[in-house]
Amino acid sequence: MKIELKKSTISEIKGLLCVFVIEGEDPPAEIKPFLNGVKKERFEGKLLQTYSTDTLGKANFERLLVVGLGKKEDMIIDHLRRAAGTIVRYATGLKEKEVTLFMQSRFVSKHDLECQTQAIAEGAMLASYRFTHYKTKKEDLFEIEKFVIVAEDDLTQAIERGVKYATSQNYSRTLDEQPANIATPAMVVEEARKLARHYKLHITVFDRVKLKKMGMNGILAVCQGSVNEPHLIKLEYNRDKKNYPLYCVVGKGVTFDTGGISIKPSQNMHEMKYDKTGAINTLGVFKAVAELKLPIRLLGLMPMVENMPGGGAQRPGDIIKAYNGKTIEVLNTDAEGRLILADALSYAAEHKPEYMIDMATLTGAMVVSLGRHAIGMFSTDDKLAQALQDAGNNVHERVWRLPLWPEYGEMMKADFADLKNISELPEAGSITAAAFLKEFAGETKWAHLDIAAVDTVKWAHPYLEKGATGIGVRLVTRTLEKLAGG
Ligand code: BES
Ligand code: ZN
Ligand code: ZN
Repeated sequence: MKIELKKSTISEIKGLLCVFVIEGEDPPAEIKPFLNGVKKERFEGKLLQTYSTDTLGKANFERLLVVGLGKKEDMIIDHLRRAAGTIVRYATGLKEKEVTLFMQSRFVSKHDLECQTQAIAEGAMLASYRFTHYKTKKEDLFEIEKFVIVAEDDLTQAIERGVKYATSQNYSRTLDEQPANIATPAMVVEEARKLARHYKLHITVFDRVKLKKMGMNGILAVCQGSVNEPHLIKLEYNRDKKNYPLYCVVGKGVTFDTGGISIKPSQNMHEMKYDKTGAINTLGVFKAVAELKLPIRLLGLMPMVENMPGGGAQRPGDIIKAYNGKTIEVLNTDAEGRLILADALSYAAEHKPEYMIDMATLTGAMVVSLGRHAIGMFSTDDKLAQALQDAGNNVHERVWRLPLWPEYGEMMKADFADLKNISELPEAGSITAAAFLKEFAGETKWAHLDIAAVDTVKWAHPYLEKGATGIGVRLVTRTLEKLAGG
């Protein structure tokens, strides 16, 4: 789908015309006649309430869709993403190739108007995305070709920004969704190489032999039971621009998490193909950052492994030495994300980035603490935490900070090694996991984002189809943009 900006009057619009209506406010005069006979309860402009009608030759446009935005005082920017998504869903249902949204810009300031337009572009692009890769029937493949925004002002840049953010997220969603028989660590390496070629990023891939030499024993321990080779992907954007601030993003890349010898129950185990979304969504951040040409240096680290219970698999009780020299007693092989992140974070910290953010589907306990509406955030730096929180509210990938007090760190001390990978008490599972990671972030200002409960949606959402959300792509990109002063 392409988004196009046009200057036009309502009377010139053909096909499907869409208009947003704020509850309690008048719609544009030209569409009023079509709403006159409509009962108040049928359409009051409540959030995402819709009303549609054919115009039966009484207007140039053939069909009208009005979408409620709710009350003006309750408005948040995400309502526009949802409303734009609602239009796309409706038009897709009708198999309309082209839709036109008439924007009434007279209510808001220029700045707000740009943010709002960006949000509309994002909502529309995100809603138009469907994972049809393995569908063989033509009717499953319908896609809207053009989403026209009619507005007075020049909003080209705002639309372009929205499209860049959303297409980067959609790029991640496509890879997130790939099953583990296709998306092996090696396949993700190939995708990272393609991305690097396209955006002239610097890429280094460490294989098993190199990982062994480096002492990346967390990564090696987790992949021991799998026939798929491990890889650590290192991506660098603006590598040589030494005057730009250096930031770092690390993503958990477990292409499939069976739990290993501490095997998971089989119910819903198929969802563990999504255990790579931290790494894949990090690739999406690189795409967005490169598209937006952000004036920063970005280092990315994606440890890619598969956690299987093979004959060579690590056992509960094994003791390993991570990249930074700390020893870990592996009491549960299903707490594998923290083992691969231990190596990746301590290696990343050696590069001395100003800030380091990791994204990981780390703990099932996230869904217990925050449900499916927030990312769990843990941070050693208030400024970084605040930047993530503000960006989260803006892009509507909201984060909620949880504590990292020393007492939680105490819970991870082991009998026979420096650390154990689980606390054994069924308490504060997401926090103790973060406290474990903290041991590897060193002095670097760091934030950990546990995306386990929000990397997929289980039912349709106004602009996200069931499946992978690509969460974190817009959040982290926006945070980096803000930190760099954008
Ligand atoms: N990948 C899982 C976490 C997860 C669970 C993500 C459900 C999404 C949905 C992680 O590797 C894991 O298995 N964590 C364990 C930790 C436990 C053994 C301390 C968990 O959450 O049960
Ligand atoms: Zn696990
Ligand atoms: Zn996992």
